[in-house]
Amino acid sequence: MTANEVRMPIESAADIVTARQKGRSLALDLGFNGAEVTLIAAAISEVSRNIVEYAKHGEIILQPTNHGAKKGLCVVAEDNGPGIADVAQAMQYGYSSRRGLGVGLPGAKLLMDEFEIVSRVGVGTTITMKKWVQNAK
Ligand SMILES: Nc1ncnc2c1ncn2[C@@H]1O[C@H](COP(=O)(O)OP(=O)(O)O)[C@@H](O)[C@H]1O
Ligand SMILES: [Mg+2]
Repeated sequence: MTANEVRMPIESAADIVTARQKGRSLALDLGFNGAEVTLIAAAISEVSRNIVEYAKHGEIILQPTNHGAKKGLCVVAEDNGPGIADVAQAMQYGYSSRRGLGVGLPGAKLLMDEFEIVSRVGVGTTITMKKWVQNAK
């Protein structure tokens, strides 16, 4: 746990809004431009929504990160829900186990620079996504 890590419980629509807002303000602080901030907020929204829909509750962790001279934002979405049996299928554009649009996970991956998903049936799901600031301010 680092000093400026933000951890938020996610279990309601209101929590999704809060996570999105915190992500937006942290991304602005880190130097992302307005368009990038919007993309990051959308990615946070999708993984938070999945927590509420499929796992009922979980957590979003926002953390500034860097790689060499690159500054970025790391978003972790964690839950102890049912897990995903076939991650490759879940990542397919348009696949939904319910009646969703099936674009949440592939969309979030597209919006961020790095995207990793680890899921075990009966244990839960952890998604780690990062985006890097393009031009240092
Ligand atoms: N946190 C999660 N826990 C369990 N299953 C999940 C989780 N997130 C996504 N999934 C599974 O992956 C599928 C694809 O997710 P997504 O791309 O967001 O589409 P949608 O939510 O519209 O179905 C979901 O239908 C669900 O089966
Ligand atoms: Mg979804």
